[in-house]
Amino acid sequence: MSTLNPQPPSLSTQRFLVTGALGCIGAWVVRNLVREGTTVAVLDLASNPHRLRLILNDEELARVQFIAGDITDLPTVEAAFKDSAATHVIHLAGLQVPFCKADPPLGARVNVVGTVNVFEAAKRAGLKRVVYASSIAVYGLSDEYPEGPLPHDAPLKPRSHYGVYKQANEGTARVYWLDDGLSSVGLRAYTVYGPGRDQGLTSSPTKAMLAAAAGRPYHIGFGGRCAYQFADDVARAFIACARAPFQGAEIFNLRGSVATMGEIVAAIEAAAPDVKGQITFDDKPLPFPEDMDDAAFATALGRIPDTPLAEGVRQTIDIFRRALAEGRISAGN
Ligand SMILES: NC(=O)c1ccc[n+]([C@@H]2O[C@H](COP(=O)([O-])OP(=O)(O)OC[C@H]3O[C@@H](n4cnc5c(N)ncnc54)[C@H](O)[C@@H]3O)[C@@H](O)[C@H]2O)c1
Repeated sequence: MSTLNPQPPSLSTQRFLVTGALGCIGAWVVRNLVREGTTVAVLDLASNPHRLRLILNDEELARVQFIAGDITDLPTVEAAFKDSAATHVIHLAGLQVPFCKADPPLGARVNVVGTVNVFEAAKRAGLKRVVYASSIAVYGLSDEYPEGPLPHDAPLKPRSHYGVYKQANEGTARVYWLDDGLSSVGLRAYTVYGPGRDQGLTSSPTKAMLAAAAGRPYHIGFGGRCAYQFADDVARAFIACARAPFQGAEIFNLRGSVATMGEIVAAIEAAAPDVKGQITFDDKPLPFPEDMDDAAFATALGRIPDTPLAEGVRQTIDIFRRALAEGRISAGN
């Protein structure tokens, strides 16, 4: 693939369509776009903007075009491209690991067919590229790979329906490039944290940050060392990829901060000293490789947004504290 080298954007002519933007990463994508003055539309099956309300004010929310719709329905997705007059698309809609496990046929419809629909609609709308969320769940167990950071092009050996569907998405992207010349970038996150991360296998570190903001104890059900990405950084990486003039179909790992759960808890306690000793965790690591090599992404994109862990945790707890004080969230959700 050629380089991604971001060019200065001509923001006034850009119109972003973000699928799944009522979710965590999408909310941060929308916040970044709205705050820089870019036109943005959201296509989501859900209708409650509670994650957006955590990080955008009413005036900012009023600037977002909301389109309610299901990505499993191609005419709906095509209509969303048309209604939003999209020039750029970031595809984030999907069902996470537990939901795919609970209902694999639904998971396949949303994550596989839905992604094909987004590529097809982008092609028919004449877009040049699609940026979409893949996941490190495309990889196998940590003991199936050599020690050290996992190389960008390590073999894919997914162990979950979700991982298999994400692998299918990467194949779909490659074939749209080969057959139709539609370019794409897929980004593989691991553990995204930050306001809005309230569901999915690895959401408990963020739930611990919410509990800490409320001055309550919390037990995290896993431990070990893994890669954490701050939701705002992930959002900015997606936006940068959407704007980068490139051709081909590429997929990059996001690394972020590689930390032990003990370090996560220490960062939480530093930001919320009142809960010292009350945030606990199981010392059972996740089965995935713990560290990713993101050198290929850095070479292609230049600078990867990378907020230091302590700062990302502090910002998260600050946002939760404000939202709790204003009644926009409860410590139970
Ligand atoms: N959060 C992470 O740590 C992480 C890690 C790796 C990859 N990813 C991927 O990134 C993407 C975004 O993750 P997130 O954490 O923001 O997820 P999320 O679960 O918070 O949000 C997903 C959004 O997709 C929407 N959606 C679900 N089914 C839909 C459908 N049929 N039609 C339209 N919208 C639908 C949901 O309503 C929700 O708003 C997902 O594809 C996810 O698999 C996330």
